[in-house]
Amino acid sequence: METPSRQVHWEQFYSTHREQEVSWFEATPMLSLEMIRKSATGKSDSIVDIGGGNSRLVDCLLAEGYGSVAVLDVSSRALSLAQARLGNTATKVQWIESDVLGWKCSSPFDIWHDRAAYHFLTDLQDRAAYAALTSNAVKSGGALIVATFGLEGPRSCSGLPVYSRQRGDDCRRLCDIL
Ligand SMILES: C[S@@+](CC[C@H](N)C(=O)[O-])C[C@H]1O[C@@H](n2cnc3c(N)ncnc32)[C@H](O)[C@@H]1O
Repeated sequence: METPSRQVHWEQFYSTHREQEVSWFEATPMLSLEMIRKSATGKSDSIVDIGGGNSRLVDCLLAEGYGSVAVLDVSSRALSLAQARLGNTATKVQWIESDVLGWKCSSPFDIWHDRAAYHFLTDLQDRAAYAALTSNAVKSGGALIVATFGLEGPRSCSGLPVYSRQRGDDCRRLCDIL
């Protein structure tokens, strides 16, 4: 899927679904928080949430005192919803409206977190481009947290097909890069 179609899909999706109606909603994203806590060397670590959408992860990270948090998403609607929820606190966050594959990261992050965005990259070339991006966008010795469905999980998500084969190989490729 190309960037314009992706963007159209997600803008439409966030315009027609309320926050708590989506299958991936978590009031407190515990697993993500635990992985970030374990990976972080301190509260000044820079963290980017790829495909963060309207997730409350950013709220929780700010509440825990992380001072350098960025949220990237292809949907401006999703980012606006998150900003509205956070109110004045939203100014503490770097908001990046972009397709992850078209993003030019200017300075690398300590922690890259992606829950359920990578799995929409069903084309091998796109997954390779994502892997290449992480090598520039994550500091050496940093953490790459990428969460996808399990091998027996659904074959689609929010009306889009998801990538579900050879995940082990993909993980090894991403890990080798860092
Ligand atoms: C299933 S939702 C998960 C949202 C959030 N990570 C969470 O766990 O609640 C997938 C999110 O990824 C975003 N997304 C999908 N493909 C993307 C891409 N290529 N670049 C940036 N964001 C993308 C969507 O707009 C959506 O917000």
